[in-house]
Formats: sequence, C-alpha cells, structure tokens
Amino acid sequence: MARSPSPPPLFPFASQQPTSSHETFSPPPSILIVGSGIFGLSTAWALARRDLFAKCTITVVDRSDPLNPDAFPAPDAASVDTSRIVRADYADKAYAALGAEAQLQWRKQAKPTDLGAQGRYHESGLLLVADPGPVRIPGEIVAKSDMTGMDYVRSSWANVLSLAADNPDLAGRIRELPDVDAIRERLGTGGSSGSWGYINEGSGWADATASTKWLFDKVKATGRVTFVSGTVASLEHSGATVTGAKLSDGRILSAELVVLATGAWTGGLVDLSGQATATGQVLGYLDLTEAEQQLLNDMPVILNLTNGLFIIPPRNRVLKIARHSYGYLNPAVPPTARLPSTSPASQPISYPLTHLSDPSLSIPQEGADDLRRALREMVPLPGLADRAFTKTRICWYSDTPTGDFLITYHPQYNGLFIATGDSGHGFKFMPVLGEKIADCITHSCPLEFVGKWSWKPDTELIITEDGSRGGKPGLTLANELGKES
Ligand SMILES: Cc1cc2nc3c(=O)[nH]c(=O)nc-3n(C[C@H](O)[C@H](O)[C@H](O)COP(=O)(O)OP(=O)(O)OC[C@H]3O[C@@H](n4cnc5c(N)ncnc54)[C@H](O)[C@@H]3O)c2cc1C
Ligand SMILES: *[C@@H]1O[C@H](CO)[C@@H](O)[C@H](O)[C@H]1NC(C)=O
Repeated sequence: MARSPSPPPLFPFASQQPTSSHETFSPPPSILIVGSGIFGLSTAWALARRDLFAKCTITVVDRSDPLNPDAFPAPDAASVDTSRIVRADYADKAYAALGAEAQLQWRKQAKPTDLGAQGRYHESGLLLVADPGPVRIPGEIVAKSDMTGMDYVRSSWANVLSLAADNPDLAGRIRELPDVDAIRERLGTGGSSGSWGYINEGSGWADATASTKWLFDKVKATGRVTFVSGTVASLEHSGATVTGAKLSDGRILSAELVVLATGAWTGGLVDLSGQATATGQVLGYLDLTEAEQQLLNDMPVILNLTNGLFIIPPRNRVLKIARHSYGYLNPAVPPTARLPSTSPASQPISYPLTHLSDPSLSIPQEGADDLRRALREMVPLPGLADRAFTKTRICWYSDTPTGDFLITYHPQYNGLFIATGDSGHGFKFMPVLGEKIADCITHSCPLEFVGKWSWKPDTELIITEDGSRGGKPGLTLANELGKES
C-alpha cells in the first residue's frame, strides 16, 4: 500500500516560523506605509513610539480625500463611518482576549483627549442572537468552517464567561437571554425573535470617523511621520526586493521596507489570490424623528449571527443598519499594477467600487430588502421599515478564508510587509493593533496569532467561513445591481 504523503508544512516560509523571535531584526533606515486606515495608522503610531525605530524615517501615503488632501484616510476607507461595534465577544479565544485588551483603552473617558471621550465610544451593551442550529453534544468541537451563527454565539458566550471568571465587573454585566421574551425585554424596541442569545453590557460601539481622526492626530503629534497624499500605482522593486512605490503622478517614494495596509484594495498592488479578496457589504442610514430617537436611546447594539444583520443605537437622529455577510464580489481590472509582475495584470480580481469612484453607486435591491427585514424584526417602530434611506453605502472588507487577518512579510519579496485581511472585524482593535503589527514586523509576532496571521498555502476560492456571516456566498455586485425590481 502506498504511504500517504506527509502533510504540507504548516509554516512553509522561513519568515513565519513560530520561533521567528529568534531572528534578529535591525530597523531599516526608512519605512513607507501605504494606507492610512486603522491598520496603517496604528502601525505608524506604534513604530513612531518605539526607540528601536528612532532613526528610521516613517512615511504614510494614502489616496486621502480628493477634496481635502490633508485629511487621512480616504472617505471611502472601511475605517471611516458613523459607527463600528467594539466587542470581546468572539468565538475565537485569541481575538476575544485581544478585544478585551482593546476595550480597556476604549473605556478611557476621563480626559477629553482619552480615546473613549467626546462621544468616540459608547458602552451601550451588545445583544448577540441566532436561530437554533444543529443540536450539538456538550463539549463537541465544531470546525470553524462548520460553525453556524448559533455555534458562534455559544462559543462567544463561553469565551466571555471565561473572561468574566477573572473579572467580577464583567461578570455582573453579562446575562444569558434564554428565550424570545428575554431578548425582547432587553432590546427594548418591541422587536425580538431569535430563540437564544446573551447581552454583554460591557461591549458597545465607537464613532469610527471620530476615532480614526483621533488616531491620525496622535500619529501627527509624534512629529515622526510624514503624510503624503497620492495613489500608489505600483510597487518599485529590483528583482525580489521591493524598494518603494510609484504614485500615479509619477512620483517615487523609496523605502527599505514597504508596509501595505491598503485594506480591500491590496489585491491591486500584490497578488493575493488564495489569501484575501475584496467583498462589498451593504449599509443603510435612516433619519429618525426626535421621538423615535428618544425611544431608541437605550437600545443595545444588536447583532444576529444567523443572518449577519445588525443595528447600532442611533445618534443625532440617524439610525444605521448593516449586514455582516459573504458580501458582493466585484470582478474588475484594478487601475494599479500588481506584483509579481508575472501575474497577468489584465486578469480581473474582486476590487472595491465605492461612492468615490462612482458617485451614483447605490446598493442592490437584495441588500436593501435585507436591511429592511432587520428593521422589521429588530426595531419595529411604525413606518420605519418603509422609510427611504437617506444614504446607502457599500463598504469593503479584505476577506480571508478563516476570517483571520493577514499580517506578515511577503513570502517572496524582501522589504515587503502586508497588514490587511481585516475580514470585517478589525476596527475594535484600533488601540492595540499597531503594537501587534509592529511586533510582527520585528519578528516577534504574538504566538497565538503566528499561524492565524501568516501567509497561507494556496487555497482556491475565498469564502469567509468563521461562523459569523449571513447571506449567500458568491453574489456579484454588477449582477445584483442589474436586478432592480
Ligand atoms: C460595513 C462595515 C462594517 C464593519 N463593522 C465593524 C464592526 O462593527 N467592528 C469592527 O471591529 N470592525 C468592523 N468593520 C471592519 C473595520 O472597519 C475594518 O477592519 C478596518 O477599518 C480596516 O482598516 P484598514 O486600515 O485595513 O482598511 P481601510 O480603512 O479601508 O484603509 C485602507 C486605506 O488604504 C488606502 N489605499 C488603498 N489603495 C491605495 C493605493 N493604491 N494608494 C494609496 N492609498 C491606498 C485607502 O485610500 C484607504 O484609506 C466593518 C467594516 C465594514 C466595511
Ligand atoms: C435572526 O435571523 C434569523 C434568520 O433570518 C431570524 O429567523 C431571526 O428571527 C432573527 N432574529 C432577530 C432577533 O432578529
């Protein structure tokens, strides 16, 4: 009988060995960070504060805002929006712990300059619900790729319970909601359904635009970082060594280390097939009356992990509804060139299409219908579900197969580091993420993330299976936009 082939090595590339902390690191004379969303900005902040990098010049380049080139990041960046959920409620222990670490920073509100002050953070509580899935035997281990929304909520509850075991304050702020009535009562909007869930009063949401601005100001205040407004058209390289970036206006920014923190756009600059893909997610915003705002003031964030629909408590009479789903693919030939130069540049990849590149962009009917379904179930105020959206948006994730970030040196190019693959859940880590990315840059990636954040052996098609996604996989934006009813 033929012997079965030995399994492929878990860490196929030398730079990703879990023992990589043995590798010595000497800081390069210059670092160019492409992208000023929270991945890029937090990296710049961490590097600028480390003595090790005191002699290193740090530059951040971003498309920025065409109407205001001094503002970073670009207005269509995923890091710019009215709100983002801040939670430690994860089915995965490592992210739960990192979320808890970030929450300590978000909760700082005593001084106006603290991250959580001035309305940047609201601890409204987070209600997680899902429909019953297949019955599980107690203790049964469910593969991440087989997780249903209910498996996700149950694992998240278990992780939050274990965080609460060493944290009496948290223990007093979490509560199981065993049935429809318990869910309805805490939600307080009159809506419910969903058979089981829990509330974590220690979670909440952040004003993403204001928080990203806070971080931008922190980075500027270090006096160590130069900001450049421009679009990177291609990476400069000499053989297998990346030496900088060329902008669309012909300028060249040279650096010994280039960090790509270009979010969903990253596949336009480096071949990410099998690693990450851009998926578009729907968002809708509605105006409320003052009376409706009052009624909903104390609602928690509600996230339904069976269909991915979620609603954030309204502020200033604006209510936001969104869907954390498999999303839309947008096959297109990017306007930028990607490495390796052997990967055919004319081959389409999923690439973001936003209101900046197409001001007339709206959301597909399928998505709008789903957002209205969320309103009907979760916030059934009279007339609300049929009210016109004042604004809609398609916001882009850099999705990986497992929902893990991609934070690693490129396996083939020297001088190229990738910090993306946010998979639609990176924002909450803003205050701690840059330190972890800087650890990975200096070959000291946190052990619990070494495998998760590494460059993976090739996988074919990317559908994010981490138990948290709703909707149908594989929808394309153009097809769905073509189906207007
Ligand atoms: C609808 C939606 C809801 C979300 N909800 C949550 C949530 O509730 N909680 C949570 O924690 N996270 C959430 N997220 C995820 C979170 O917003 C992202 O993980 C995070 O903002 C990603 O940051 P980033 O820096 O990787 O990307 P981005 O913020 O998109 O930044 C990338 C930057 O790169 C720049 N760039 C790209 N290409 C180029 C180029 N060629 N040249 C120059 N500049 C370039 C862009 O202009 C942009 O500014 C959500 C995301 C979306 C879309
Ligand atoms: C969650 O989504 C499922 C599937 O769409 C639905 O049956 C259930 O009612 C939803 N729960 C809430 C609380 O909206």
